[in-house]
Amino acid sequence: LENGLMRTPPMGWLAWERFRCNIDCKTDPQNCISERLFMDMADRLADDGWKELGYVYVNIDDCWMAKQRDASGQLVPDPERFPRGIKALADYVHSRGLKMGIYGDLGTYTCGGYPGTTLDRIEQDALTFAHWGVDMLKLDGCYSSEDEQAQGYPRMTKALNMTGRPIAYSCSWPAYRGGLPPKVNYTLLTNICNLWRNYGDIQDSWDSVLAILDWYSENQDVLQAVAGPGHWNDPDMLIIGNFGLSFEQSRSQMALWTVLAAPLLMSNDLRTLSQSAKEILQNQLMIKINQDPLGIQGRRILKEKSYIEVFLRPLSHSASALVFFSRRTDMPYRYTTSLARLNFTENAVYEAQDVYSGNIISGLAPEHNFTVIVNPSGVVMWYLYPTMYLEQPLNFVRQ
Ligand code: GLA
Repeated sequence: LENGLMRTPPMGWLAWERFRCNIDCKTDPQNCISERLFMDMADRLADDGWKELGYVYVNIDDCWMAKQRDASGQLVPDPERFPRGIKALADYVHSRGLKMGIYGDLGTYTCGGYPGTTLDRIEQDALTFAHWGVDMLKLDGCYSSEDEQAQGYPRMTKALNMTGRPIAYSCSWPAYRGGLPPKVNYTLLTNICNLWRNYGDIQDSWDSVLAILDWYSENQDVLQAVAGPGHWNDPDMLIIGNFGLSFEQSRSQMALWTVLAAPLLMSNDLRTLSQSAKEILQNQLMIKINQDPLGIQGRRILKEKSYIEVFLRPLSHSASALVFFSRRTDMPYRYTTSLARLNFTENAVYEAQDVYSGNIISGLAPEHNFTVIVNPSGVVMWYLYPTMYLEQPLNFVRQ
């Protein structure tokens, strides 16, 4: 969507995967969906070094609403959990130098059973969100028909535009239509949405991460081509810092989402995040790669013996991101290959920076073998760039 927004994938925090529809503020005041939760997360984003790195969205998901619209038909937040209203919350988020996202659902109800945005409510709800100072809308698709979705999603684009407020627009439409053509028209989506969910919900497990990764890889010919500045595929939230992923798996999700040019929307508890999760999520070279201005989504370029996969994302300044990913469950794997075998055909010498260790590997000529050691369910990730172009054949260049 060419609304000037999200020229690189959005970064921030989204409530759903970690906090779900916990509305029990009586017994669980710290973790229920309430203004306090979002103010806490805004404080953490602003005070713990996230904002400076680009993590600026504080996004509300389902279960923020009262069960009924008000007398004028307007959506209203639950009065006990959001006593000062969404506008005051958005003001607070903005005062901390951040942006605020909200959740709605095109249909009779949200997935959690709260008031939905039926076709006749689209303009009204867009105006409400704009009036509150919202910066992003995730429009889910529970409780609507194929036909209603086909009408409603483009109509919300117009309605948001008409408000005059820049509001980024995340469409769950393709996730409700199987995620693939011909049911999903990606040409249309790139024109009307800034990002879109196209596959099932992430859960707090490695299996869930793998299922998403596999679907993205299997369908990469379709998906890779449609991503770019202003319009991104969304494989769903980062679950790093929760309970389901090991250290290596956390590093893997971060690396793989980064090569996929995915939004970096964390769903975790920033108040209690471990130092190791924070280091993964705040890796500066990783973020630079995720936010590369060319906005090209990476691809799986190789799958070997069902346990080693290599992903490649082209970056600006002739650089690339390479991810070596191991599905083994036994021991660290010594994988030997060469840049030539990974389709680097330039007559050049390359250098790589290991994104996690920071080590520099220099003097890499395409024909030369190198070995990476990839831990079980882990990755080695390289930021790779040419340092020298050659006119001669390469075989005399030595490390
Ligand atoms: C759907 C979406 C999730 C979340 C829930 C909320 O399942 O895919 O991301 O928004 O609804 O109920």
